[in-house]
Amino acid sequence: MSLGASSIGAHPNLDKLDLMKILVLGAGAREHAIIKALIRTGTDAVNITCAPGNGGISQEVNTVPLNQNDPTAVTAWAEENKTELVIIGPEAPLVAGVSDALRAAGIPVFGPSKAAAALEGSKAFAKEVMAAAGVPTGMTRKCVDLSEVESALDEFGAPFVVKADGLAAGKGVIVTSDKTAALDHAKAFLGQGMQILVEEFLEGEEVSLFFLSDGETVLPLSPAQDFKRAYDFDEGPNTGGMGAYSPLPWLPEGFVEEVQNKVALPTVRELVRLGTPFVGLLYCGLIVTKNGIRVIEFNARFGDPETQVVLRRLVTPLAGLLHKSATGQLATEMEPEFLEQVAITVVLASEGYPISSAPDREITGLEMDDEHIEIAHAATKLVEDKLFATGGRVLSVVSIAKSFHKARKHAYKAIEQIKLEGSHYRTDIALKVDEGKDD
Ligand code: AMP
Ligand code: GLY
Repeated sequence: MSLGASSIGAHPNLDKLDLMKILVLGAGAREHAIIKALIRTGTDAVNITCAPGNGGISQEVNTVPLNQNDPTAVTAWAEENKTELVIIGPEAPLVAGVSDALRAAGIPVFGPSKAAAALEGSKAFAKEVMAAAGVPTGMTRKCVDLSEVESALDEFGAPFVVKADGLAAGKGVIVTSDKTAALDHAKAFLGQGMQILVEEFLEGEEVSLFFLSDGETVLPLSPAQDFKRAYDFDEGPNTGGMGAYSPLPWLPEGFVEEVQNKVALPTVRELVRLGTPFVGLLYCGLIVTKNGIRVIEFNARFGDPETQVVLRRLVTPLAGLLHKSATGQLATEMEPEFLEQVAITVVLASEGYPISSAPDREITGLEMDDEHIEIAHAATKLVEDKLFATGGRVLSVVSIAKSFHKARKHAYKAIEQIKLEGSHYRTDIALKVDEGKDD
């Protein structure tokens, strides 16, 4: 039985994946990386459309100025253009119910329903699901006013972890040893009508592990690590992610299997029990503590920038994997294969990111004569053949090589060549796993 996709048929000819008509929703480096991976693993670029896309994406595939968050407009476009698979990149269209509308129209869609996407949008819902499914996570207290927050802070002690229960554009979480800052953070979000979660601080390495889910069956992708702070050596404010690498050579053997059995499968089974099967990408944000694996968050979509490194190493045709997820057929699929080579990505951010925004500025030096390098664009636009950075995280330089040392060398050589006034990037991505040799 295929859950959540039972009314949706298989692609008539999965051997002809190159011909499958695909619509990708989104405008970031994650979507550019998805598109590059589709093409690299066999999809013909002419069959891919991205809405709305960005400057870099428009140089590779067809883009349409469709409102990605409008369920009616997206469904109408997909029907008119005989789309056979819609891949939803960001969270916003999920929350807007775009996947529900597409599914109701019988169009295969990789991306969970609005109800299942609450696993990301509501941290309280995620905690309830984890409690019911027996998934290991940190202790937490749900608070509706400041006095409850204060007593939870006192209960757990410093460092304090305070999370807003709702979409806060990546700004909802604070980890601090300053109690006043923790209380101020809580006050700001309580003032916007949100509940607050105070959590036990978990110490250990962070891992992002993605699972494809068709509602019932899950298949793991390769683990990655994200660098969330703005500056080198984890200084500065939290960002959307300043770099990543994959795989993680320091993980214990059996790690992926353990997360599959203790986290991903119990979670999707609980969502079935609740009547909201999860069809799409289950992003498990984990901390490996000395007491074992703990979930710090779920996301309902591919992570950015982890996708840039994970999909760079994918060998199995991506269109087939995502289509089988969308149509309840993962049980017939083998675990995805990855290259032995390693990948790193370094994000180039515009001046002031993440604190202030910069004006649109021209960006040059992107012509790379290096087979190790790919550039995934995020905030770029094309104006008469010139590329402009439009602020925030501008692009991801993605590098692949036999060793992290080599991958780092190529990535940093490439990023130094790119010219964008005021831009900045971290210099310590994957430094910890740099073997310091050339081969
Ligand atoms: P989240 O939005 O939940 O992923 O949190 C953002 C970042 O805050 C995470 O990537 C972690 O670095 C950190 N964080 C979140 N929860 C905890 C926790 N319970 N203990 C330690 N760090 C945390
Ligand atoms: N890289 C973190 C995220 O995508 O949420």
